[in-house]
Amino acid sequence: MKKTPNHVAIILDGNGRWAEKRNKKRSFGHKEGFETLKKLSQYILNSEVSVLSVYAFSTENFKRSEEEVSFLMNLFIEKFTKEFEYYQKENIKVVFSGRETNLSKDVLKAMNKIQSMTKNNTLGTLNICLNYGSNYEIIDACNNIIKDNVDEVTIESFNKYLYQDLPMIDLLIRTGKEKRLSNFMLYQAAYAEIFFLDTLFPDFDSKEYEKVLEDYKKRDRRFGGINYEKKNN
Ligand code: IPE
Ligand code: IPE
Ligand code: MG
Repeated sequence: MKKTPNHVAIILDGNGRWAEKRNKKRSFGHKEGFETLKKLSQYILNSEVSVLSVYAFSTENFKRSEEEVSFLMNLFIEKFTKEFEYYQKENIKVVFSGRETNLSKDVLKAMNKIQSMTKNNTLGTLNICLNYGSNYEIIDACNNIIKDNVDEVTIESFNKYLYQDLPMIDLLIRTGKEKRLSNFMLYQAAYAEIFFLDTLFPDFDSKEYEKVLEDYKKRDRRFGGINYEKKNN
C-alpha cells in the first residue's frame, strides 16, 4: 500500500477569524487565504500528490452578507483572470466542482478561462470546489443518470457523473478548529484519513502540512480489512 496520499483535500476554514483577530475586515482574511492556497497548491502538487481538492465556497456560503459574497466573487474573478499565468508556469491543471447556478457570468467566464488555459498541464490537478455542496453533487449526478436512461449504475460509472471524475480522497484536512465536513465531498471522503487542525487557514503552511503527512503515514489504513502481517499471530 502506497504511503503517500494521491488525493489530498483541504477545507480551508478560518479566514474571517484570522482577520478579526487582527482587527481587520473579514475580506482581508480571504485575500490572505488565497495567497496561502497559491503557495500550498504549488508545494503539495510538487510532491507525489496528483489531486488537491480545496473548498473555496459552499452552496451555503450564499447565506452570508451581500458585501462578503460580492467581495469573494470579485476576488475569484481577479485571481482566476490574473493568476492563470502562475498556475500555467507551475504546470498545474485547474478544474472546478460545483453548480453554475447563482454564479454570475463574469465569475463563470474567469473560471472557464483558467480552466481552458491550464487544461494540458501535467504536474497535478487543483480541483477548486466553488458553489459546491456534496448533497447537490449527488442529486445532480442522479438526475443526469435518469436523463441518460441508464439501466444500471456501477461505482465506476457513477464516478463519471460526479462534477469531476477523481480518485477517492486519501487525506482530508480541515483548518480553523471546527470538527465537521460542512457538506464537502461526503462520497469521495468515504475512507479518507481526517485531520482537524486549530490553525486558521492563512497561517497553514508547508511545515504544518509535512507534520500532518508524517502522522498520516503512521496511520493504519485498513479499509475494513485486517493487516495480518502486522500482527504476530
Ligand atoms: C473560509 O473561511 C472561507 C470561506 C468559507 C469562503 P471563513 O470565511 O469561513 O472564516 P471563518 O470560519 O469565519 O473564520
Ligand atoms: C466551509 O466553511 C466552507 C468552506 C470552507 C468554503 P464554513 O465556514 O462555511 O462552514 P461552517 O458554516 O462553519 O460549517
Ligand atoms: Mg468558516
